[in-house]
Amino acid sequence: MKIDILTLFPNMFEGFLTESIIKRAINTKKVEINIIDFRKFSHLKHHQVDDTPYGGGAGMVLMCEPVVEAIESVKTEDSLVILTTPQGEKYTEKTALELKKYKHLIIVCGHYEGYDERIREFADLELSIGDFVLTGGEIPAMAITDSVVRLLDGVITEESYKEDSFSNYLLDFPTYTKPASFRELSVPEVLLSGDHQKIKEYRLNEQIKRTQLRRPDLWEAYNANKKSEK
Ligand SMILES: C[S@@+](CC[C@H](N)C(=O)[O-])C[C@H]1O[C@@H](n2cnc3c(N)ncnc32)[C@H](O)[C@@H]1O
Repeated sequence: MKIDILTLFPNMFEGFLTESIIKRAINTKKVEINIIDFRKFSHLKHHQVDDTPYGGGAGMVLMCEPVVEAIESVKTEDSLVILTTPQGEKYTEKTALELKKYKHLIIVCGHYEGYDERIREFADLELSIGDFVLTGGEIPAMAITDSVVRLLDGVITEESYKEDSFSNYLLDFPTYTKPASFRELSVPEVLLSGDHQKIKEYRLNEQIKRTQLRRPDLWEAYNANKKSEK
């Protein structure tokens, strides 16, 4: 997969691309990630890419020209163009599983007040990472990239992500590591028993309890999915 991220702040991605699983995925050629500064596509003095809003109001608005030209410089027939915006469809694990099927993602990071409305015409999908407002699309672009890349074949084992929260409409089960006893807190006996069947049952039970308690909305989706499977 190839991911092109269009941004005004390329330096923000330095740590993201050079650490841990993303770094390994790049080094083993599971993914190619390019950071493109759309300031380079400005036709104006001082590489200006934003201007005041027509009709007045606070903040600066990203101009069509540099953003659209940056998109067009990398777009092919295999591309999916994603606009990061708090007004987009809410991003979930299900979206990540859909995105992993594409050969090429182009992720556009907004900044300041947001985009000239006409830029929306050049996007295939608008995504929000939650009902809160960030200063720019860089953190959403990293969140989307990270969650998609970890699902690509060979990046982490399928077993790891198949048991993660959301993959089967349930939150993940609680995990523990050594020591077996820490202050007054002990690891549940069953996990030390070596009985794999019992451990499996315990974990599923915990997943169900947690989901019912913390995420009734997910629990409803879990039951609806079970019903439709029947
Ligand atoms: C300050 S925000 C603009 C908010 C815009 N005025 C609005 O209220 O819809 C600047 C940029 O940050 C990014 N952004 C902020 N919050 C986001 C979110 N929850 N999900 C995705 N992108 C977000 C977008 O790229 C957005 O264009």
